[in-house]
Amino acid sequence: MKQDTLIVTAGRDPEANHGAVNPPVYHASTILFPSVAALEASQSHRTDNDTTYYGRFGTPTTFAFQNAVAEIDGGHRAIAVASGKCAILVALTAFLKSGDHLLMVDTAYGPTRALCDGFLTKFGVTTTYYDPLIGSQISNLIRSETRVIFTESPGSQTFEIQDIDAIAEVAHSRGCVVLLDNTWATSLFFRPFDHGVDVAIQAATKYIVGHSDAMLGVITTTESMFERVQRAALDFGAPPGPDDVYLGQRGLRTLSVRLDRHMKTGLAVAEWLKTQTQIARVIHPGLPNEPGHSLWLRDFRGASGLFGLVLQPTSKNALAAMLDGMELFKMGYSWGGYESLIVPTDPRKHRTATTWDPPGPTLRIHTGLEDPGDLINDLQRGLARLSSTPES
Ligand SMILES: Cc1ncc(COP(=O)(O)O)c(C=O)c1O
Repeated sequence: MKQDTLIVTAGRDPEANHGAVNPPVYHASTILFPSVAALEASQSHRTDNDTTYYGRFGTPTTFAFQNAVAEIDGGHRAIAVASGKCAILVALTAFLKSGDHLLMVDTAYGPTRALCDGFLTKFGVTTTYYDPLIGSQISNLIRSETRVIFTESPGSQTFEIQDIDAIAEVAHSRGCVVLLDNTWATSLFFRPFDHGVDVAIQAATKYIVGHSDAMLGVITTTESMFERVQRAALDFGAPPGPDDVYLGQRGLRTLSVRLDRHMKTGLAVAEWLKTQTQIARVIHPGLPNEPGHSLWLRDFRGASGLFGLVLQPTSKNALAAMLDGMELFKMGYSWGGYESLIVPTDPRKHRTATTWDPPGPTLRIHTGLEDPGDLINDLQRGLARLSSTPES
């Protein structure tokens, strides 16, 4: 079946739910067993993806979501957790122990970096940050104790595209596991397991939920990696709440049409921004002159609506005048919802293996599902405010 069909059918079982199209929301901690035999029998099946045992191990709502994501991602199985950040921590700790070494991409999402510098350091794991453009040269950084290579492509805030195939080939020849934060592309635009990824992580909070109203993370793996990830997830004991996982499985059904629109609008807005004199650079891998463009063309099936922007040098006042007056692009963290967002970022704060020295402030834009012309008009008025505001 083609992907758009899978998006609709995966993980659904109306017959098991009195004909309802979507699975009901099960609120459950205790699961009751009719006999000692049934109680005992359930223990050996408690990690199956269709057996209820105790709420923390999942309910039919969770199973429906996990089955759908695994199928759509092209993985073996998926496990849902309480947030994207929780998914990253679970996946890392599934493969790392005290004394191990981790290779972390320098452009990782800030809180991922914070996990390495804080939590993992505390438990005796050493991290080396690497240049996202390193490709097969990553072999020079692998030590005998390196266990995991963590990738995020494109990188948070600065959108570098990684050569995942090259990294995975080296990683596997040296006994390392490849993790990917695939939140930006989702498996609709980047097929993780076709590129050698062992464990794919998504902050489902973003595009999968798609409406900025739930926190959810999901980890999909190859067959050989699943047990360790599931064990770690159960150890953390942080399953998603039933309403949030329901919203995740519901959001999945429209992911394809939403992403298509996010991509078209994002590219239209990015192209327009490129022509504006106040803009030094539009950082979008879908633009032909951007450094990651050829790898993006080779490996990706599309681009989401999240990209970066570097302004020409300007004052704090002028930037505030631009952003404070936006009507459609609102300021707020996260992305992937139906609404457009814009936030100032400071990628200099978050890197040690690479440098980021833009001429002016960096912004992150998420193009939502509004009319692209209206979004461009909003930005045009914002840039006019930027240009007309005195420095102090
Ligand atoms: C690339 C990326 N990964 C992971 C996360 C974490 O997701 P959550 O907010 O659900 O914890 C985010 C959140 O902004 C993100 O941008």
